Amino acid sequence: MAASAPSGDTPTLKPRVLVLFGATGDLAKRKLYPGFFKLMRAGLMPDDFRIIGSGRHSPGSDDEFRDKVREALDEFGPDDLTDDEWRTFSDRLSFVVSSADDGQDLADAVRAAEGELDGEIGPRLVYLSVPPAAMEPMVGMLGETGIAEGASLVVEKPFGTDVPSAKKLNDRLHDVVDEDQIFRIDHFLGKEAAQNILAFRFANGLFEPVWNRNHIAYVQIDVPEALTIEGRASFYEATGAFRDMIVTHLLQLLGFVALEPPVRLDARGLHAERMKLFEALRPLDPERVVLGQYEGYRDEEGVDDDSDVETFVALEARVDTWRWTGVPFYLRTGKALAEGRRTVTVGFREPPMRMFAVRGQSAVPEPGDRPNEIVFELSEDPKVAVDLLAKVPGPSLELGPAALELDVKAAFAEDRGLEAYERLLHDVMLGDHTLFTRAEEIERLWEVCQPVLDDPPAPEPYAQGSWGPERAVDLPAPRGWRLPDGD
Ligand code: BG6
Repeated sequence: MAASAPSGDTPTLKPRVLVLFGATGDLAKRKLYPGFFKLMRAGLMPDDFRIIGSGRHSPGSDDEFRDKVREALDEFGPDDLTDDEWRTFSDRLSFVVSSADDGQDLADAVRAAEGELDGEIGPRLVYLSVPPAAMEPMVGMLGETGIAEGASLVVEKPFGTDVPSAKKLNDRLHDVVDEDQIFRIDHFLGKEAAQNILAFRFANGLFEPVWNRNHIAYVQIDVPEALTIEGRASFYEATGAFRDMIVTHLLQLLGFVALEPPVRLDARGLHAERMKLFEALRPLDPERVVLGQYEGYRDEEGVDDDSDVETFVALEARVDTWRWTGVPFYLRTGKALAEGRRTVTVGFREPPMRMFAVRGQSAVPEPGDRPNEIVFELSEDPKVAVDLLAKVPGPSLELGPAALELDVKAAFAEDRGLEAYERLLHDVMLGDHTLFTRAEEIERLWEVCQPVLDDPPAPEPYAQGSWGPERAVDLPAPRGWRLPDGD
């Protein structure tokens, strides 16, 4: 069986070698192997390819490595995997030990694998899923061994840990490859539902004219997680919620909500507008940031007894542009919270007069009343709701809250939806940078965040299963967060 067949109008990809650092890690298991497998099944992989896993510790023979990948697919891949498909995939898998000090065997293996591929081959894809401290030395090794030559280099967040380290990492990367070879991956940008924010804004005459400070009162980007750190203590102790989620995912979502219409919807157009927006993002004020740590975090295996690492962040951001002046952007995320959700809420100003009686509300507007809101649910099953007031059926002219809802899956019969990582891995192979961030964007975001890194508020304890520290619940006063009450 060929590894793939071209599907629809998707360009055919040249055969190539894919090298995965962190091949036995959590991300590879949950997302990368299932992602490549599903792309192969969808006809979106090159006609032929090889995947070489790499890392400091060998998982054993190639067959033992394949067994591990098979376990990952059984747990996180499709449940109807056939023997034929598995053979096609596993025949292309191997593992080679490498480290920052020694990448020669790996370089030899990459060249040998490329020699096995027929026809003109495409740029090798090198995926760096390694801890921040290992990133620079690994990049050095890729340069010295020649593995980086012509490669598409996929770099996982957090892209440094502050302004100086982000700059240093970017310099190191630029010593070895051109910016156009680098794909800084932020999987939130690959989520179908995140891209729907752009579609809503720029393709619909109903929303485009009101997307500004004259009509919008506030924005909330709320990503509570019910999960704890799930055994990722060493990553989490070095990173924390602020670097893990805010500097990357949540501020990138803010970018989609707030950027100006790009000249074109391509990499250059979006990059230019994101950069302008991030320039206008006011450096965060530590007084408007609440950090939290869930009770019991210090008892997690691998966590320091007196760890000050935050597992929760809520903050207010401001965008100093003509469009957004005066509109607060509230961001919240944390582990071990009451619910797992990914919600972007855009709240609209009220009409100038209240003419109707509204169920559950007094005749004069009260601070806690919820105005019209557009709510994007960024789940695997994306939904968009527009909350309105409408007449309650009956003899009196009384209004009540109601919603117009778009269920994206139900609206479009064909389900060709790709999971975020699948979409982005495919984009890397196409050489499409549209949903990836460039060096200067990352450096600017670290600048915006630096005041909090320099002067972080002390993390406040919160109960597991709650909505975080009390002060965070009150941050978007007077209305409060849409979740959980606005559901
Ligand atoms: C990852 C973070 O990048 O994103 C995790 O490291 C977080 O801590 C995850 O749980 C959330 O992603 P998703 O797609 O499950 O919302």
